[in-house]
Amino acid sequence: MRILVTGGAGFIGANLLHLISRDHPEDSLVTLDALTYAGHRESIRSLEQTGRLKFVHGDIRSQETVEPLVREADVVVHLAAESHVDRSISDARPFLETNVLGTGVLLEAARRHDLRRFHLVSTDEVMGSLPLDRPELKFTTSSPYDPRSPYAASKAGADHLARAYFHTYGLPVTLSNCSNNFGPFHHPEKLIPLAITNLLRGRKVPVYGDGKNVRDWIYVEDHCSAIDQIVRRGKPGSTYLVGADCELPNIEVVRRILRIMGKGEEWIEYVRDRPGHDRRYAIDSSVLREALGWRPRHSFDEALRVTVQWYTDHREWWEPLVTS
Ligand SMILES: NC(=O)c1ccc[n+]([C@@H]2O[C@H](COP(=O)([O-])OP(=O)(O)OC[C@H]3O[C@@H](n4cnc5c(N)ncnc54)[C@H](O)[C@@H]3O)[C@@H](O)[C@H]2O)c1
Repeated sequence: MRILVTGGAGFIGANLLHLISRDHPEDSLVTLDALTYAGHRESIRSLEQTGRLKFVHGDIRSQETVEPLVREADVVVHLAAESHVDRSISDARPFLETNVLGTGVLLEAARRHDLRRFHLVSTDEVMGSLPLDRPELKFTTSSPYDPRSPYAASKAGADHLARAYFHTYGLPVTLSNCSNNFGPFHHPEKLIPLAITNLLRGRKVPVYGDGKNVRDWIYVEDHCSAIDQIVRRGKPGSTYLVGADCELPNIEVVRRILRIMGKGEEWIEYVRDRPGHDRRYAIDSSVLREALGWRPRHSFDEALRVTVQWYTDHREWWEPLVTS
């Protein structure tokens, strides 16, 4: 199968390319990536060097770039995006341009070619925020959309467009909405790698507000295995929620990192909360589990240890990305 992955130099894209390369040596892999501040060719260099991956430096908003790549593909897995909520609060424009318009350019190219699958990788943040005091509530495939940051709203726009191309043009679209990922190749602007790299540099870990905001964590390799299974066996027109049943308050995540790294609570620094900070996310992934038999394979604590070790061993990967 010829697979075009957009955003393959990003966190999840790079992990996905490594997973497909390992598990499906028969597939041919191409990635299109604009190498924004979030794209790191180093993350996929080994795949390029062994001839497993063709890298194309370009923008998903460019029809000229996208058209020939989609024509040559059987499957498109679309991950390229602006992905950081804080950046979307400071300047929403790149989010609208890449996440909404860029997705539109890809879908237009896709509908002109005989694709087997167009898979859009999305987020649980499109469904807004859950209350802390109703633990029985989780996001399901019938939860309404209620995005609350420019990032989440731009991803919601992409989701709606992709579904519209399924209904209007019969494009074989699938979607996955996943909870918070962590693991290797994650930019140090995000909570877990920020905490680890700050501690490795002898700095404190900033925690927003009271630290009680709850996220539902998944190891990136488990998310990638879900994407891989949905692309191969998922039903066109379907949406799958991906999560590993691991709800934790941010402060607890930071405490576990401190414990692994042998540091005390004095390394925590509480900072002013993010505006509109969603209180809680929680995913009900039963549809995916029942339909495709997918299961997460990694426990949070074991995967967190692996992640701390990865950042400890790969300073050359993250040190150029930390500016202050
Ligand atoms: N990280 C998470 O926890 C998470 C959870 C659920 C869903 N997602 C979604 O998964 C996808 C990947 O997330 P990530 O964390 O790997 O993001 P990332 O920011 O690490 O990577 C994004 C990649 O897209 C590339 N890119 C950005 N704009 C582009 C453009 N206009 N043209 C071509 N390439 C462009 C960047 O260079 C980068 O390599 C996103 O769509 C995100 O919304 C992420």
